[in-house]
Amino acid sequence: DWTMAGYREQAIQQIREQVGDKQVICALSGGVDSSVTAILINEAIGDQLTCVFVDTGLLRKNEAEEVTRMFRESYNLNLIAADESDLFLGALEGVTDPEVKRKTIGRLFIEVFDKYAAQIDGAEFLAQGTLYPDVIESVSFSGGPSVTIKSHHNVGGLPEKMGLKLVEPLRELFKDEVRALGRELGLPEQFIRRHPFPGPGLAIRCPGEVTREKLEILRNADAVYLDQIRKHGLYDEIWQAFVAILPVRTVGVMGDGRTYDYACALRAVTSVDGMTADYYPYTHEFLGETATRIINEVQGINRVTYDITSKPPGTIEWE
Ligand code: XMP
Repeated sequence: DWTMAGYREQAIQQIREQVGDKQVICALSGGVDSSVTAILINEAIGDQLTCVFVDTGLLRKNEAEEVTRMFRESYNLNLIAADESDLFLGALEGVTDPEVKRKTIGRLFIEVFDKYAAQIDGAEFLAQGTLYPDVIESVSFSGGPSVTIKSHHNVGGLPEKMGLKLVEPLRELFKDEVRALGRELGLPEQFIRRHPFPGPGLAIRCPGEVTREKLEILRNADAVYLDQIRKHGLYDEIWQAFVAILPVRTVGVMGDGRTYDYACALRAVTSVDGMTADYYPYTHEFLGETATRIINEVQGINRVTYDITSKPPGTIEWE
């Protein structure tokens, strides 16, 4: 009889057998896959695991604090919280091309991870939250024609470069099973139901140059938008929702004054797997109230638009 409790026990045994007395490192993003991977491996081998959480400076409001606090308070695991925001934001100065942004971030992520991994004596394994669909996708696509629309950011390429072996305890699971396993492991519901968040973070929600000023405005607008979604009980109906700050300022009027501030776009989609998506059909009341709140509460934005593009032809992210 297959149960999640049984899977958990079996996975723990397998991890112990595979790893022996060696050290494992794990890139922890706070997403459900990497979180469940880390917690499971921590249960199996405890002190032999070190997790690295990289603050790229491209995370959402309070995200680094919330993720590291949750792991420190609820799980007794070795966690390095690496604030590398100066490095990432410095490298992105003047960069406007979406692919260059992605590649820059991907390269720096590997560099940073490499740096911290080198500090761990006897690291032989890298833990990854690879799921079953990732496994079949890479098989069924091999040899076929391949079109790269966006270079995806993950830790791919890292194991070979560093001579690490992979530990992938979620390889047999689908996303809903990973969530069930997360519940079994006591991961808080708010982490289990979290919307996906891309590796390159807010950089790809900031078309044009990424600056600290724009990131700050974007973070504040995104926080108000998500608060609205939660207050209206819509979070779990939506696959993913976020704000993009547009590289354009527009004229507005506030009180007796003229404003000249950024425009932003709200995005919300429904999807099963992220491969195709429909825009979410908010009511006009919701959109109006949200626009008013963002303009009143977020300094630097004076115009709000709603992106009604589905995928295809649009992608979910703006870059
Ligand atoms: P697009 O924008 O291609 O996104 O329609 C589909 C889904 O993938 C996420 N996404 C990423 N996730 N690294 C990730 O881990 C990336 O580089 C990346 N780019 C897009 C996106 O947020 C959406 O859920």
